[in-house]
Amino acid sequence: MINGKKVLFSGMQATGNLTLGNYLGAMKNWVTLSDEYECFYSVVDMHSITIRQDPSTLRQRARKLLMIYIAAGLDPEKNCLYYQSHVSGHAELAWILNCFTYMGELNRMTQFKDKAAKHADNINAGLFTYPVLMAADILLYQADVVPVGVDQMQHLELTRDIAQRFNGIYGDVFTIPEAYVGKVGAKIMSLQDPSRKMSKSDENPNASIYLMDDPDTVMRKCKRAVTDSEGQILYREEQPGIHNLIDIYSACTGKTPEETVKEFDKKGYGEFKMAVGEAVNSVLKPLQEHYAQLEKDKAYIDRIIKENAQKAEYVATKTLRKVQHKVGFPDRIR
Ligand code: TYM
Repeated sequence: MINGKKVLFSGMQATGNLTLGNYLGAMKNWVTLSDEYECFYSVVDMHSITIRQDPSTLRQRARKLLMIYIAAGLDPEKNCLYYQSHVSGHAELAWILNCFTYMGELNRMTQFKDKAAKHADNINAGLFTYPVLMAADILLYQADVVPVGVDQMQHLELTRDIAQRFNGIYGDVFTIPEAYVGKVGAKIMSLQDPSRKMSKSDENPNASIYLMDDPDTVMRKCKRAVTDSEGQILYREEQPGIHNLIDIYSACTGKTPEETVKEFDKKGYGEFKMAVGEAVNSVLKPLQEHYAQLEKDKAYIDRIIKENAQKAEYVATKTLRKVQHKVGFPDRIR
């Protein structure tokens, strides 16, 4: 608890261009939950270097991502928006937790297997222990809730296991976090191959809608989305392309998939795709407008970065000192 509120932690990588999947699966829920919880939203730049990055591009993207958090509706005066690399406690706690995590557990992580296959020339130890750093992010702030898309559930389960193991040895040190996964939009699929998730790193630009795509591009990508020859708009697994478009439309409009199916009963795919594109644009437009304003105000963003890092550092250090004491590190002499 901080200021009488439960704690929320989540983060996003500043790698590649953010997609509609990131927004609908995570950021949209961040905004909804932000009044109820004391929130920490990190730009996880330390996770990003598990894959080789161009330094100046990473720096630019990290700043852009922080501005997108604000543009999406997170008030930086109320929510702690900060860079992971500005709070050294993340790395320090990750080291300790590494000593409480088994190789076998990390070997089972599907994201590691996927990324290792994709970057076979750079299977570094950081890529392997990536989920431990993620556990440190969450546990450092004693988070009660972690809103994420479905693809991060396995990492969250591991976080809970590590925390429970640690608490089992040392007493109640960590809050055991719960995942928060939205009802619709938790797994947005590629528009070109609905068996794969929509991803920042997809090589086919038509597969993903990016948050900064202009309205015509969004319409074009929706029109080209792969569907099927059934000719009916039904929410079922046999029609993965249509299923995905129903998810997108529902998440953007706040309707349930059932309401969406009713709305488009007997309508054609062409008409439905246009409606999906318009719904997406109505979500992206205010975000893009707000972002354009923020870009002009360098001093404001700099102040947010500085103040929020201090706030995060304060909370993180409290947990870190407790953990360091528990494992037997000598206390600091004041
Ligand atoms: P990242 O940067 O890959 O994705 C950020 C968030 O977006 C969600 N997401 C999706 N949701 C629905 N459909 C999709 N196609 C889709 N693609 C991505 C992700 O589930 C995630 O919630 N390891 C994390 C970042 C992280 C983190 C943390 C998250 C680091 N530390 C602590 C929570 C708590 C990641 O790479 O997310």
